[in-house]
Amino acid sequence: MSETTMSGDDLAALEAETAAALAAAADLRAWDAVRVGTLGKSGRLTALLKGLGAVPAEQRKERGGALNRLKGALEGRIEARRAELEAAALEARLSAERMDVTLPPRPFPPAGADQGGIHPISRTMEELVALFGAQGFSVAEGPDIESDWHNFGALNIPEHHPARQDHDTFYLPAIDGRRPVLRTHTSPVQIRTMVAQEPPIRVIVPGRTWRADHDATHSPMFHQVEGLVIDRGITLGHLKGCLIDFLRAFFGISDLPVRFRASYFPFTEPSMEVDIGWNRRTGELGKGGDWLEILGSGMVHPRVLANCGIDPREWQGFAFGMGIERITMLKHGMPDLRPFYESDVRWLRHWAADPLSPPSLAEGV
Ligand code: FA5
Ligand code: MG
Repeated sequence: MSETTMSGDDLAALEAETAAALAAAADLRAWDAVRVGTLGKSGRLTALLKGLGAVPAEQRKERGGALNRLKGALEGRIEARRAELEAAALEARLSAERMDVTLPPRPFPPAGADQGGIHPISRTMEELVALFGAQGFSVAEGPDIESDWHNFGALNIPEHHPARQDHDTFYLPAIDGRRPVLRTHTSPVQIRTMVAQEPPIRVIVPGRTWRADHDATHSPMFHQVEGLVIDRGITLGHLKGCLIDFLRAFFGISDLPVRFRASYFPFTEPSMEVDIGWNRRTGELGKGGDWLEILGSGMVHPRVLANCGIDPREWQGFAFGMGIERITMLKHGMPDLRPFYESDVRWLRHWAADPLSPPSLAEGV
């Protein structure tokens, strides 16, 4: 039996089926499919209306009237279902976006654009000052533009020493035949401090450093912190104790594995790279059996002491240097160094520290 000759019972069936399909339509997309399938150009009701011309003349009036009533009824049902679904969608959105006013206020990031935050590099520097401060260190500083002598020569790196090639130095135009450099490390402040100050010395030097180097973990401008201790009777044991305490406090892991591995720096003898335990696969610190190099260190070379007018037979000491971006990325699980200096306000909001809460020593020393 073709649809054009449907009986009144079949019209009732179409209405019932449409009603069932509408009830089953869970969202506006499904609803629209039912609408198109019924009232659309090739919809079932439309087909019946088109077939009206083929109905014998004596039945046509009755049939036409029945179809029109069905059309009105279906339009009504379809419209009603649309209203229901729209109301449900709105309700779902409202409850998803509802604010729980009983939650305590979020301390940071601030909602308003007018409250600033502490850049993660600055916050790490504050933590370094606090943690080494607790070990009796004070802070020393030096200029970004350095003489060749402070950056290299006095540190036992003479003119044609291969160690210069590791540093990708930015040289500036020569003054009196000597080219100043953008300091490639904070170590020249060791020299400045020892020249200016009698031992005993116990300083850290957080500051900006420069190398012609740029990728996901290297930036042409970056930061280091240097440490320098000069006193009588200072040994490798002091160096190890100082750094193990610092690393465990900084990363907040009281049993963080720390490994000292023989290495070479022209300005220390012996020299050691320091590694911490981590999981190379997950990036988790403290366990996992892998080692990650984190800083360079060693006993200050006697020639460096002598270059600064300090008698190496009387005074000994140790020094260390590490990348501040590096330890900040590790502490917070940041994958890429470049956003530190891209000034993307979303990144800054995400990583900034609350200016009203000082760096905590709760985990520390
Ligand atoms: C030094 O710079 C030595 N002056 C450290 C030192 C001090 C050793 C005192 C002994 C005694 P090195 O070139 O490995 O060492 O750099 C130290 C750290 O700086 C690196 O481990 C890395 O974390 C960081 N660093 C170096 N280059 C870059 C760069 N382009 N971008 C970001 N971090 C860098
Ligand atoms: Mg290194």
